[in-house]
Amino acid sequence: MIKICFVCLGNICRSPMAEFIMKDKIKKLGLTSEFYIASKATSSEEEGNKLYYLVEEKLIEKNIIPSNHMATQLVAEDYKDYDYFIGMDINNIHHMYKIFNKDPEQKVYLLLSFAGENKEVADPWYTRDFEQAYQDIELGCQKILEQLINTNKG
Ligand code: 4NP
Repeated sequence: MIKICFVCLGNICRSPMAEFIMKDKIKKLGLTSEFYIASKATSSEEEGNKLYYLVEEKLIEKNIIPSNHMATQLVAEDYKDYDYFIGMDINNIHHMYKIFNKDPEQKVYLLLSFAGENKEVADPWYTRDFEQAYQDIELGCQKILEQLINTNKG
């Protein structure tokens, strides 16, 4: 089983959007039992809060029905429980290095690095561009899956 935790600042916009997009892709491929997908926050800012309503609306517009979500902060003990921690922006990566005391097993990645782009997923909480966030996250998730499926073939 491959365990992936998507990470952003608040865990109410980008990382849960990535979680639900990835779960949808995996389900469509019939690979649900091969993966464990979650999302967490680097801050305690939104702890306990649900998915931001404009993210929920965007996902539904894309025919992805999100399940219940409650923002949860990432802690050092999470490190052993996942194979990949995928951050949305560079700040997320730096916060993860702090939380995990660096990254001894090289589990921390920037989402769009999988798409060959040294680009961040801009935070729609500030940009208000939820379509751009969706497009960037969908591309990143697609590329992660392609890479994982290719690596595990044969
Ligand atoms: P996210 O967006 O990191 O994509 O979940 C944010 C949502 C809320 C806040 C920051 C980022 N906030 O500070 O309230």
